Amino acid sequence: MAGSDEKNAGKRPSRAAIRQVAVLVGAILLISSLHYLTDPRYVVLHGIYQRLYYGPVILGAYWFGVRGGLLTALVTSLAYIPHIEITWSMNPPYEASQYVEIVMFYVAGLFVGLLADHQRKLTAQYARAAASLERANRELQESHEQLVRADRLSALGEMAAGLAHELRNPLAGVTGALEIIASQVPAGTPQAEFSGIARKEVGRLEDLLNRFLAYARPRPPAPRLANLGELVGHVVALLRPEVERQSVSIDTAGAQPWPLLRVDPEQIEQVILNVLLNAIQASPRGAVVQVRHHVEGGQVIIDVVDEGPGIPEELRARVFHPFVTTKTKGTGLGLAVSARIVNSHGGSIDARPDAGGGTCVRIQLPQAPDGASGSGAPPVTGQP
Ligand SMILES: Nc1ncnc2c1ncn2[C@@H]1O[C@H](COP(=O)(O)OP(=O)(O)O)[C@@H](O)[C@H]1O
Ligand SMILES: [Mg+2]
Repeated sequence: MAGSDEKNAGKRPSRAAIRQVAVLVGAILLISSLHYLTDPRYVVLHGIYQRLYYGPVILGAYWFGVRGGLLTALVTSLAYIPHIEITWSMNPPYEASQYVEIVMFYVAGLFVGLLADHQRKLTAQYARAAASLERANRELQESHEQLVRADRLSALGEMAAGLAHELRNPLAGVTGALEIIASQVPAGTPQAEFSGIARKEVGRLEDLLNRFLAYARPRPPAPRLANLGELVGHVVALLRPEVERQSVSIDTAGAQPWPLLRVDPEQIEQVILNVLLNAIQASPRGAVVQVRHHVEGGQVIIDVVDEGPGIPEELRARVFHPFVTTKTKGTGLGLAVSARIVNSHGGSIDARPDAGGGTCVRIQLPQAPDGASGSGAPPVTGQP
């Protein structure tokens, strides 16, 4: 109550404040009418009524501070003084004692108001302290979790990277053997179908291992001058089957002319692939995924915008952590690998809600030193 009054000071009064004023006015009116309607012979009753006035004065001071207390005392005395003059002017000592009582209304209003103001200030201070304590606590917990995760990851990562490395050779052997089998069984037979399934699954395993190794053992970037348009073009061509399967289209028209970057082209293609693939997978049928770019303060900013459901707020910070996935067949490594690559290029990546309701993944990379624009690059049209 007190807090909302404070917030509303200088603004329109809140509903609660209006209710409180109504209570005060009602109480003063009620007590005053008792005064005016009770026969002066009932001195004891009048003594009680007169002290009842302390109720609204104290409440006014409690609710609205010193100013509220003094104002309620003023309204109370204005309501009471005519009664004193009409009823007690014949009895000067009693009349004087009534005026003393009125002074006491102001004293009560002042003191209770001072206490209420003080308490309100303390409450606000306490709330601020509690909020900053909670923030600090949350940050501490987050950094602790990150630390634990990083620690676990580095141990787990080393072990798993070794294992993944060991698995690669036998998998290559299996792929080779499956290819031989496939070449020897006639097409259309169940054997051909099964070996096809086996090859697809082995392919998936290999892909997972490669991604995992890229994350666990990243190689340092080997930068050279590259045209962003060409990189995007390669990726769009690679993704064509995925684009057709999902019935979406990729619009890169908004990103031309393309700037030159000094990057490791393979690694940046990997990033664009991971981000575009997520955008395609998140898109409903018939949707458009847009690739846009602009240059700002020496940074090339690439936005991949989709019309999907967006990333839930609580997941947004974590999607760049390894193994965070919401997909049944996801690895949770795409964005983690991308973040690692972009960071090793001195850039950054983040995911934000797009104004259209989908997701905008923003990749920032330093522009090539000469800042040249690759306007001569072939235009890339991603429309399937
Ligand atoms: N464009 C997007 N729209 C909605 N969710 C996304 C998008 N990109 C990433 N995500 C979320 O981030 C998670 C992690 O993505 P990623 O690291 O690429 O792993 P994966 O794709 O294997 O799940 C996804 O499972 C998904 O929940
Ligand atoms: Mg992905």
